[in-house]
Amino acid sequence: MKVAIIGTGYVGLTTAVVLATLNHDVTAVDTDKGKLGLLHAGKVPIHEPGIQNLFDKVRHTICFTPDVAEAVPEAELILITVGTPLKNGGANTRFVKQAALEVAQVCHPDRHYTLAIKSTVPTGTNRHVAKIIEKVFAARGVRGNVSVASNPEFLQEGLALQGSFYPDRIVVGADCEEAVNTLRCLYQPILEQTFDSPSSLPRPAGYQPPPMVTTDPNSAEMLKYAANTFLALKISFINEIAGLCEKVSADVTEVARGIGLDSRIGPRFLNAGVGWGGSCYPKDTAALLGVAAQSEYAMPITEAARTVNFRQRGRIVEKLQDALITLKGKTIGILGLAFKPNTDDIREAPALYIIRQLIKEGANIRAHDPVAIQNARHALNGFPVVFTNNVCELTHKADALVLITDWEEYQNMDLKALAKRMNTPFLIDGRNVYTPQEAEAAGFHYIGIGRSSDRVRSYAFDKSEL
Ligand code: UDX
Repeated sequence: MKVAIIGTGYVGLTTAVVLATLNHDVTAVDTDKGKLGLLHAGKVPIHEPGIQNLFDKVRHTICFTPDVAEAVPEAELILITVGTPLKNGGANTRFVKQAALEVAQVCHPDRHYTLAIKSTVPTGTNRHVAKIIEKVFAARGVRGNVSVASNPEFLQEGLALQGSFYPDRIVVGADCEEAVNTLRCLYQPILEQTFDSPSSLPRPAGYQPPPMVTTDPNSAEMLKYAANTFLALKISFINEIAGLCEKVSADVTEVARGIGLDSRIGPRFLNAGVGWGGSCYPKDTAALLGVAAQSEYAMPITEAARTVNFRQRGRIVEKLQDALITLKGKTIGILGLAFKPNTDDIREAPALYIIRQLIKEGANIRAHDPVAIQNARHALNGFPVVFTNNVCELTHKADALVLITDWEEYQNMDLKALAKRMNTPFLIDGRNVYTPQEAEAAGFHYIGIGRSSDRVRSYAFDKSEL
């Protein structure tokens, strides 16, 4: 199928590469000349495991252009994948509307197109975009024939290719059958799992072909916000429980394991830690509250999920203060700057907030990250942070080590060697990567999340004690 993709950000570029791998004929549009230059030179401008490899295989089949008029007229399907940054507590849909307007200006009046919005947008945006397109056609004096559909994406950074080839579901919200059929046709290889899996991305064992959820546009748009908000509040819930565990000498990792085995709850997204960051949960929960406010509807659960989340970052600073008495003049090593592993994305990264707070309190900061240093350096411009590519350098005469991002390379560190180099070997484990026992055996004073110092051990209850 001939597909035009408007916007080559994280979602747009991943979608372009995946659709080209499925043998669709893709033209991708972006106004950012720098990004287009990199793409033309064969370089992927985002950090995402596996994407460069796949891009190398298909890039000669994808046309990258700054010109909507080159991509749209001959396409059957147009995917809008531009950003919707946060503005005044809501998602700014300006770029989505602008893209729709430009598309409508260059569509052939006598051809049918499906225009699907993949960007995360507030409820009602699809229908609003349909009106914008009608207006452009009216101004052009043509009838035009564009079906607008919502096709939200659920990609997780770091797992974007996996999530594209083997999704849990595909969601299409449309008022007309033609749009549903076009998108069903686009995703057929994925819906039926008939494509040859790329060698680097084998089909997960037991994976079943995903359902396609078809609904109306407003419900599809709401579904995306609801999914992200639910995951955000699941994490906030376990973080709230973690705080209480610390008070009552319980271990949140044990609690999470036990409740996660209840199939109604499920084990995923129950890792207590420094809280969520990134480009989605902070923005989408805020945007959902913005939609609610416009409807004069209170959403106390969503509000609380945000409150708990942002409090969690402050808890790290408090833990350091408790351990070190004062932060003034203390040297603190930070492990991890990206908001999560396998990405260089530092948007709303808890590490940035924590670093700024610690510097405010007079601490000296050294920071490490496998890939996000460049972005963090830019975001922390003006803050006196010493960046290093060597974990060992964080610990030389340091007063505390703080693990913020659970990168794989932090999971098997030589704790003994690190502790030895430190002035006071405190390990604040913001992701509960290590057990208190192993960290203490290596010489660290261990402080995790939701694990009290006189913690409970994981052993079966002796029934005679009951
Ligand atoms: C999320 C959604 O998962 C995805 O479906 C949507 O399309 C975009 O938003 P993403 O932001 O890439 O994806 O990251 P995700 O893996 O969901 O993690 C978000 C944040 O939650 C990270 O900061 C992560 O560290 C944190 N997290 C996740 C926890 O603190 N505990 C957990 O158990 C899981």
